[in-house]
Amino acid sequence: MSQIWVRPERVQQNPLFTDDYQAILSNDEIDTVVEVLGGLDPAYDLIKAALEHNKNVVTANKAVVARHLTEFTTLAREHHVKFYFESSVGGGIPWIINLERALRIDQIDSIHGIFNGTSNFILDEMTETGAPFDVVLAEAQRRGYAEAVPSADLDGDDIENKLCISASIAYDTEIKPNDNLLKFGIRNVTAADVSFFKKHHWVVKLIGRSFLQDNRYNFVIEPTLYASGKIEAGVHQNYNYVGLRGTTIGKLSFNGQGAGELPTAHALIQDLLDLELHMEHLNRAFQQPLELGNDSKLLDYIIRSEQDVAALLPDYEVTKEEADYWIVKQISASAAHKLIQQLSKTEKPLLAAISQQRS
Ligand code: HSE
Repeated sequence: MSQIWVRPERVQQNPLFTDDYQAILSNDEIDTVVEVLGGLDPAYDLIKAALEHNKNVVTANKAVVARHLTEFTTLAREHHVKFYFESSVGGGIPWIINLERALRIDQIDSIHGIFNGTSNFILDEMTETGAPFDVVLAEAQRRGYAEAVPSADLDGDDIENKLCISASIAYDTEIKPNDNLLKFGIRNVTAADVSFFKKHHWVVKLIGRSFLQDNRYNFVIEPTLYASGKIEAGVHQNYNYVGLRGTTIGKLSFNGQGAGELPTAHALIQDLLDLELHMEHLNRAFQQPLELGNDSKLLDYIIRSEQDVAALLPDYEVTKEEADYWIVKQISASAAHKLIQQLSKTEKPLLAAISQQRS
């Protein structure tokens, strides 16, 4: 027995449609609810009610999972049902299941990658064609990659959700989206910036990264420059590239379509098959007490600004290239992001970390 909950105005369109959620909850023949609404309201209430009515829940909704992972996991355990959310991170990539699989053996101290298909599509098209930002954003929306609210893709909010979910699982702690997580998106990237990067054989990607050291984790989302030839530089279109580093497995990465209807549906169906086949996923308590710290790792950054960045950062080695591109050596993410917030009050500056990846 299947039913599809829809808004009242659509009920007549299909015999499976209903707007009566209570009837679904009280129907014993329905053992699983698949939530694909997106957003927090009413998704949070619907998922909670389903778990409380002893129904498994499968969801693609990263916003609600990132904020309520512990609560939903606990509820599912109490009600002897499952809460699976593979499609919430990395689209069609079997990421959560492999993260959990690695954790059966390893401790994981690093999560890293390209977690958003829309921003990757935009940066890739700008790099490949030289087209301006607005033109490629419109094309991403036309292809159905972009979120209804474009800021989720452009400002790193979508990556924040996905990195929160991934790092919470990896470190067995609770990390929810909040203002202390460092986040700078791609809204200010211009065709001139991309051209400047190309001259230096750099490719720009929007990266989410986190690593754990001595009970402190960092959490940064920012444009990052890769030498052409590095793996990240070769991730094209709406593809994601997400990875972990574990004690015995070392660096383990996955590449695949991170956005789009079919890859997302693929991951949803995989979760449903796991339920059907009684395949247990890893159960975590998310109770490790860890602290956020974004000042331990130093990187070189490029900052585009009309202001005198060297004067604003007297304690750092800063050089200037071409028009307004400043190269700042060995600065922490927290110090670089503090500066960019200050610059953003009067202009549309750009910040990009220079990757030191060896592979
Ligand atoms: N808008 C998201 C993306 C969809 O572009 O990655 C998949 O989460």
